[in-house]
Amino acid sequence: MLLSFHSYKGGTGKTTFVGNLAVLLSMRGERVCIIDTDVNGPGIHSLFNIKYELTLVDFLQGTCRPSDVVYRYGNNELYIVPSKACEEDIITMFDTPGEARDKMLGLINSIHKDLSIDHFLFDCSPGINRSSLLAMNIADRATIISTIDVQDIRGTYLLSSMADKLGTRAYLLFNRTPYDKRKEIDEVVKDFSKKLGTRLMGSICYDNSVARAWSRKLVMEEEPDCDYCLQLKEIADKLI
Ligand SMILES: Nc1ncnc2c1ncn2[C@@H]1O[C@H](COP(=O)(O)OP(=O)(O)OP(=O)(O)O)[C@@H](O)[C@H]1O
Ligand SMILES: [Mg+2]
Repeated sequence: MLLSFHSYKGGTGKTTFVGNLAVLLSMRGERVCIIDTDVNGPGIHSLFNIKYELTLVDFLQGTCRPSDVVYRYGNNELYIVPSKACEEDIITMFDTPGEARDKMLGLINSIHKDLSIDHFLFDCSPGINRSSLLAMNIADRATIISTIDVQDIRGTYLLSSMADKLGTRAYLLFNRTPYDKRKEIDEVVKDFSKKLGTRLMGSICYDNSVARAWSRKLVMEEEPDCDYCLQLKEIADKLI
């Protein structure tokens, strides 16, 4: 399955969620590959602290093979295609959006052929931009990760209508929800999700274990019983 993760504003918790979800799935014996499509502000390589040379950008620019940009993490079947920061959008590296799509699909098919991946996870850049929409277009399911901040909520409406236009099923997840307001917020977001026609995955509370990790560790590895991980596990069961 191809799963993409988006947000309107930055910092809603996409990279953290994708990284910990991948760890969870790989611990369950699934074969997972994360592709960091956030070419403007990549972060997955930092979260996993991997050493790498060639990246998605090199592959897209045609200077290396698919297998050159895939890095295995740990002893499970978890693979990462990191990105490097560049000022371009993925689409602008090609003459047409169709070419960009074909190149991405070529990468996915090649990795799938070599490694029999069960789930590809795309960590996308925030905002409405063409790299993110390309991943949304390719994905079977697009999860929009929002906070309850009104700036995010308004953008989430836009992103979900984009998913609709592209024919990709949209899923909605709220993150960093204040713990003491959880019940009230859950009622409000249920209504909101219904209006948008998205499938609501639920919400994850603001969690000190994650906040204090500062992306320097994967809580699913080190504190798998923390509240964040317990909530993520419930969401993973709904999403996959
Ligand atoms: N539920 C949570 N509780 C507390 N802190 C969180 C939670 N989820 C994520 N964070 C923290 O928020 C910060 C931003 O998270 P992250 O980098 O995953 O966001 P992002 O959406 O990928 O950002 P960007 O849009 O810039 O790529 C990180 O320091 C992360 O540890
Ligand atoms: Mg990120």
